[in-house]
Amino acid sequence: MFKWKISYKVFVTAFVMLFVGMMFSSCGMFDKEVAEAIETESENLIVVGYSQLGSESVWRTANTNSIQTALSKENGFFLQFNNARQKQENQIKAIRSFISQRVDYIAFSPVTEDGWTTVLEEAKKAGIPVILVDRSISATDSSLYTTRVGTDSYWEGSQAGKWLEEDLKKKHQEEEEINIVVLQGTPGASVQLGRTMGFAEIAEKHSNWHILEQRNADFTTAKGKEVMEHFLRLYEDIDVLVSQNDDMTFGAIEALRESGREIGKDDDIRIISFDAGHDALMMVRDGIIDVDVECNPEQGETLAEVIRMLERGEKVEKEYIVEDKVFTKENVEKYLDGRTY
Ligand code: AHR
Repeated sequence: MFKWKISYKVFVTAFVMLFVGMMFSSCGMFDKEVAEAIETESENLIVVGYSQLGSESVWRTANTNSIQTALSKENGFFLQFNNARQKQENQIKAIRSFISQRVDYIAFSPVTEDGWTTVLEEAKKAGIPVILVDRSISATDSSLYTTRVGTDSYWEGSQAGKWLEEDLKKKHQEEEEINIVVLQGTPGASVQLGRTMGFAEIAEKHSNWHILEQRNADFTTAKGKEVMEHFLRLYEDIDVLVSQNDDMTFGAIEALRESGREIGKDDDIRIISFDAGHDALMMVRDGIIDVDVECNPEQGETLAEVIRMLERGEKVEKEYIVEDKVFTKENVEKYLDGRTY
């Protein structure tokens, strides 16, 4: 019996070792095959590994399209595209795989600001330039990335605050008590932090502006609706909704409608949104959203141009800010037609 136990253990251990060994050798083969296939297919092309953070919003889809269109084979690029489905660990895994494939450039849109130092040090050690797209990171060592292409979310937040100041003045309400609720995007994301801070700094100047609550709604319509329902249950008198992207705004509008609140009337809740996608701009035209601060998703062309500059050995700036606009009922009409997202 004892003997059988030992030989049973030995048998199981040997089997596990054999299985693990087979797994490793087949992964190795797989990696090698993938690397070889990429090498043949990407001959004479610039190989870019891109980690997109997810597909949470209409904006993100437009941003992905812009990147895939600009970094096409016809334009001289071989794009390895990876969707991290909102998980930083997936982004880190993708970046490590780009490093082991020895791509020419790594680009990524960081889901949150923190937690990139180790993997970016690995990319630096491998001599692969890293380009941040859309969002930024909080690295103290700026040599960990070459450049960033994106928008200025602090500016976006302060534009929202400035619009509110102006609108209250225009309607002679600047002395009234103003109750504000804020739907925030992904916690720790640079856009969430920037927009929050930009708006808060203007709000602080007005002792009659009261931010009742700021709550995470993850940049999605479903969460936007859920959190707005929570606000409506808790606060009777909401004058302003600041929603950090259009998708959350759509959800919040649904919640407002279902609660019986009239929207789109002069004396009702003011709605401030961000992104300025086509459907949201239609709502600006119809007076449902009062102001929409753009976050321009068309960043692919600038990314491609920056890579071309690096290829030519030219010096690049540390940051390329893509231009944003502010849309209200007064100016929106002329931008609706050509809107691609
Ligand atoms: O990082 C850009 C933001 O992320 C956009 O405002 C939002 O819609 C997206 O999900």
